[in-house]
Amino acid sequence: MNDAAGAEAPPEPRICDYEGSPYRTVFWEQADRGYEDAAERLALRAMLPPTGERLVEIGAGFGRLVDAYAGYRQVILLDYAHSMLEDARARLGDAFTYVCADLYRLPFATHALDTVVQVRVLHHVEDVPAAFGEVARVLRGGGVYVLEFANKRNLKSIARYYAGGLADSPFAREPREVVALNWNFHPDYVESALRDAGLAVLRRRAVSHFRVGALKRLVPAGALARVDGLIGDRLGGMAVAPSQFLQVLRTTGGPRSTGLWRCPRCGAEPLAAEGDGVPCTGCGARWPIVNGIHVFRENLDLP
Ligand SMILES: C[S@@+](CC[C@H](N)C(=O)[O-])C[C@H]1O[C@@H](n2cnc3c(N)ncnc32)[C@H](O)[C@@H]1O
Repeated sequence: MNDAAGAEAPPEPRICDYEGSPYRTVFWEQADRGYEDAAERLALRAMLPPTGERLVEIGAGFGRLVDAYAGYRQVILLDYAHSMLEDARARLGDAFTYVCADLYRLPFATHALDTVVQVRVLHHVEDVPAAFGEVARVLRGGGVYVLEFANKRNLKSIARYYAGGLADSPFAREPREVVALNWNFHPDYVESALRDAGLAVLRRRAVSHFRVGALKRLVPAGALARVDGLIGDRLGGMAVAPSQFLQVLRTTGGPRSTGLWRCPRCGAEPLAAEGDGVPCTGCGARWPIVNGIHVFRENLDLP
């Protein structure tokens, strides 16, 4: 497709669509991941400003981590997959704001948010600079972004590489697409992309050092997670675990805007909800609220 100047427009980034996925039951409830869950919760609590006005979790899925957000007046759970949000709402009720949207076109006004959280999502992001650009836009000046990503330069990968079992160097900066639409990232790549977006890393924490079946069966998940947290805080800068948490600051930018919504089609903002939808004053679109879920996607067929 060509843009107005006749130049070839870059292709849209691909999206890993979880619509209808049994992620909650198969990946978490039926699998032995109590340790990973506990370790991530500890890291999130350590990095999250405990109170604030508005927080959004991008790629919130079924709302696994919502317990950590009790200090926020408005908590927004955003996901591309409508079925994930239906599951979250059925379990969590109406204490949260549910938003079905694409992280590349966040439906939030510029500087509308105090805090953004994103855990286990960057590994599905093909266009990292575009995603970070959106986070930087929606955060107010001084706002915080808690980001988790899959770290390709972890000890297991380094050992496999030197043993000849891994062809791609874990030290190479380019993202590695491990399987389709699943990328692992070098910490330097992520931090450089954050800097380019006007976001500064304040703290680092390596997480999930002990993803070893035998150890997880031997030591209770909570105890293993606490040791992980102690090590991870000290080794955060070295980033040798498979998961890396960052606490990131939006250094510039204005105070929080009062208006919340923005049109993902034309960019008009701020928009306000009216009745069962958010009408756009720019292009005339009307973004519906269906069964308690704000739908800001054009390519979604709702029953
Ligand atoms: C591995 S799950 C993680 C869910 C949750 N953060 C957790 O840790 O339990 C990844 C989530 O990212 C969402 N996702 C993937 N691409 C997205 C996009 N472009 N915009 C919004 N959400 C997206 C998926 O729908 C899915 O719910």
